Amino acid sequence: MFSMEKRDAHSARKRMISNVYAKSSLQASPALREISETILYGRMLPRIAAAPETVLEAYELFSAVTLDVVIAYIFGLEQGSNFTDHPELGAKWLHDYKSRQPYLFWVQEMPNVFQLFSNLGLGQWFVPDWVGRKSLDIEEQRLEWCDAAEAAILSGKAAESARHDATVYGQMRSMLKRHEEGEAGTKEKDTNQLSRQQRLDLASEMLDHLAAGFDTSGITLTYLAWEFSRPCNAAIQTALRRELLTLSPATQSVSAGSIPSSKDIDDLPLLHAVVIETLRLHAAIPGGQPRMTPANTTLGPPGAEVHGIPAGVRVVSAAHSVHRNTEVFPEPGRWRPERWLDEKGCVDGGGDRSRWFLAFGSAGRMCVGKNMAMYEMKGIVAAIWSNFETTIVDDAGMEHVDGYLAEPRGSSDGSFLRLRCGKI
Ligand code: HEM
Repeated sequence: MFSMEKRDAHSARKRMISNVYAKSSLQASPALREISETILYGRMLPRIAAAPETVLEAYELFSAVTLDVVIAYIFGLEQGSNFTDHPELGAKWLHDYKSRQPYLFWVQEMPNVFQLFSNLGLGQWFVPDWVGRKSLDIEEQRLEWCDAAEAAILSGKAAESARHDATVYGQMRSMLKRHEEGEAGTKEKDTNQLSRQQRLDLASEMLDHLAAGFDTSGITLTYLAWEFSRPCNAAIQTALRRELLTLSPATQSVSAGSIPSSKDIDDLPLLHAVVIETLRLHAAIPGGQPRMTPANTTLGPPGAEVHGIPAGVRVVSAAHSVHRNTEVFPEPGRWRPERWLDEKGCVDGGGDRSRWFLAFGSAGRMCVGKNMAMYEMKGIVAAIWSNFETTIVDDAGMEHVDGYLAEPRGSSDGSFLRLRCGKI
C-alpha cells in the first residue's frame, strides 16, 4: 500500500485493511487486550525491574516492545516474536534492519541509475552486497511469520483463540481472496490454500505494516521518555503519574485479566497531550511526505497541472517544518504538552493546531496505523510511568538523524538514551 503509486489501486488496498485499525476495532479487540497484558505487563515491566542498577537503554527497549506488539497484532501473539524478553536478539534485529537504511536512497529514488550501474556490474558502488543479503534475511523471516499465521488460520486456531488471532494478516488474506476469487463461496475459500502469488502479496503488505509500525512508535517513545526524564519536566512526570493513578484497576497492581480499559487510557487528557506534543516536536517521520501531480502517460488519461505545478511532478511537505509554524505553535522548539489542553485541563486540539499536525500525514495517504500507534504508545506510557520514575543517566546520543525517518543518532559508544528507572 505504502508504495502503490496509482490512486485507485492504493485506495482499493486501503479499504481492504483499514477497519482492523479503526479505533472501535482496536478498543474491542480481545486479541489486542491479550497482547497488551502479555507484552506490557508480562514482559516489559519485569524487564525494566530486572535491569542491572535499574539502568536501561530506552531506544532498544521501546523498539523491542513495539516490534512485539505490532508483530503480534499482525500475525497473532502465539505466532509472533519475543524480543522484549531477549534484548540481545532485539538489539541485533534493530541493528540489521537500520544498517541498510543509508543505502536505500539509490534503490528507491534513483532506480534507473542504480539498475544501469548494476547491469555494468558496478551496483556495489552504490549498495554493498551485504545490504541485499540482510534485506533477504528480513524478507525470509517475514515469510516465516506469515506461514505461522497461515497455519493458525488453516488449523482453525486463529478463529478459536484470541492469542492465535492473526488480526491484520487474516483480514488482508480474506479480502485478497474475496477480491481475486469473487464473492461466491468465500466462506469456504477462506480456509483454502493461498496461491504462490497471494502468499507473496500478503507477505509484502505485512512487511510494510511491520516496518511502518514499529520504528516510528519506538522513536516517539524514546523522545517522550527523554523529555519526561529531564529535570526541567519533572513536574509534568509527577502530574502524569497522578493522572494515571486515577485509572481503575490501577496500572500499578495489574494481575492477569485486570488491565484498565483502553478507552479509559485513551481518554486521559494529559497523557494524550504528552504523546501528541512529542509527535509534534520530535516527529518520527519529519521528512518529506510525497505526492505526485497526475502524470502524462502515452496510454492512460492525460496528466494535470495542480495549482500551477506541472503534471507529473513530485511535491513534498515535511512535518518538521510544518510543526514549527510560530503562529500556530508559539515557542515551537519547546516541548510544552499544555499547549494541547484548555484552562480546565481538557484536550483542546481545536483551531489550527490539529490542521497543522502532520505527524501521521494527511488525507488519502495518511497513516493507516495511527490509532494503533496511539493505542500502543499510550498503553506503554501508562504501564511504565505508573510503576517507575525515570531520570537521565546519559543522553549524549539524543540528536535526530537527518532523514525521512529520524531516530536518535546515538553516541560513539553505541548508546542512545540511558535511563534510570526507580520503582515507585
Ligand atoms: C508514532 C507512530 C507512527 C507514525 C509517526 C507514523 C507516521 C506515518 C506517516 C507520516 C505516514 C505517511 C503519510 C503520508 O505520506 O501522508 C504513514 C503511513 C503508513 N503507516 Fe504509519 N506511523 C506510525 C505508526 C504506524 C503503525 C503502528 C502502523 C501499522 C501497524 C503504521 C502503518 C502505516 C502504513 C501501512 C502506512 C501507509 C499508508 C498509505 O499508504 O496509505 N504506522 N505513517
